[in-house]
Amino acid sequence: MRAVDLIEKKKRGKALAEEEIRFLINGFTAGSVPDYQMAAWAMAVCFQGMTAAETAALTAAMAESGDRADLTGLGGRTVDKHSTGGVGDKTTLIVAPIVASLGGIVAKMSGRGLGHTGGTVDKLESIPGYQTELSPAAFVRQAQDVGLVVAGQSGNLAPADKKLYALRDVTATVDSIPLIASSVMSKKLAAGSASIVLDVKTGSGAFMKTPEKAAELAEEMVAIGRAAGRRVSALITNMDLPLGSAVGNGLEVEEAIAVLQGRGPRDLRQLCLHLAAEMLSLCRGWTPEEALAQAETALDGGRALEKMKEWIAAQGGDLEAFAAGRRARRIEGRPLAAPKSGYITRMDAEKIGISAVLLGAGRAAKGDAVDHDAGLRILKKTGSCVEAGEVIAELYPGAGRDPAEAEACYLAGLTIEEGAPEPQPLIYQKIGGLE
Ligand code: URA
Repeated sequence: MRAVDLIEKKKRGKALAEEEIRFLINGFTAGSVPDYQMAAWAMAVCFQGMTAAETAALTAAMAESGDRADLTGLGGRTVDKHSTGGVGDKTTLIVAPIVASLGGIVAKMSGRGLGHTGGTVDKLESIPGYQTELSPAAFVRQAQDVGLVVAGQSGNLAPADKKLYALRDVTATVDSIPLIASSVMSKKLAAGSASIVLDVKTGSGAFMKTPEKAAELAEEMVAIGRAAGRRVSALITNMDLPLGSAVGNGLEVEEAIAVLQGRGPRDLRQLCLHLAAEMLSLCRGWTPEEALAQAETALDGGRALEKMKEWIAAQGGDLEAFAAGRRARRIEGRPLAAPKSGYITRMDAEKIGISAVLLGAGRAAKGDAVDHDAGLRILKKTGSCVEAGEVIAELYPGAGRDPAEAEACYLAGLTIEEGAPEPQPLIYQKIGGLE
């Protein structure tokens, strides 16, 4: 078999056989298929697409290219969640303890921030002592003992995807639905949970800018997961504005705790309850209505908060030191004023995410350190009526950061007009679920 013939075949719009896809992926992982051939094939996929069988074969080949978590000893209640990335998305910190407090087993590998989007591992590292690197044995043990573990992605999980993603990033081949679907699902399948809930974001802060495109991606991911024998569902959710109020690592942990204490922003609470209900429905076999009612009870009764404390302590984190540290550092926000009066009709979530990155909450280059106290708090969101000069946000610049560029970026992301905007849904659609 020759890679050049397979690229030619795809270029002409023909489907590759499973063994041909395995030849490409195994060769690319081992180094015998060079970057330039893989990039040419990825570009051909961008133009010609892939059949469902090809996408399933690509996902399986990438999932099998490295280590796989073996969670079979934990039974059928293992459940994972994946967000396609957003601004202010701290849902894992809330959803995972709700689900674990009701008998689901959440064994999750999470990532770091990427571009303007935040990452759960960065958020958790703002808690003093929290260990994100666990051995495979410690990972499974904690899942068994606590019902909840969240660690960084093991270095050798789906290495073919890691290599291919890095190549796609620099060859303009990221935005292909079959390539994104197989990339996400290869990691989810390798991570081993029996059930998977996907939070597919749509809007100005998301990869998929329209609900229709997000639904197309979700359909593909659900089909891949089901073909691999997993229970899968996806919610298409709004990322046309940031989720909740806080953007930035320590600020987001604080906000997640507030929701677990029965406070916090309503949009965040609602989305978390629905994601938790999906996870519970899949892993406990409950109806969606029953699962939602159980999730509300666990959140409002404080059970989920207790589970969060148990989980963080099991991974070495000290929530009291986290709160005391933030109090001691007297972190004060810089007020940002509305430039004119009117309704906020649009917030460009990507620009707001970039504003948080400029304040030090994210990375300009791979390997940069993040400042856990940096970020911003949104006081007025889309639909709010504001007066010129009214404080609409608070910015928290990291040490040594000049907030001027972040302020300009935040304001560039706002549209203020005379008329009130149409309200937007928080959740557009559900795809998949229990069969
Ligand atoms: N996230 C992934 O993991 N892979 C993609 O291809 C895009 C987003």
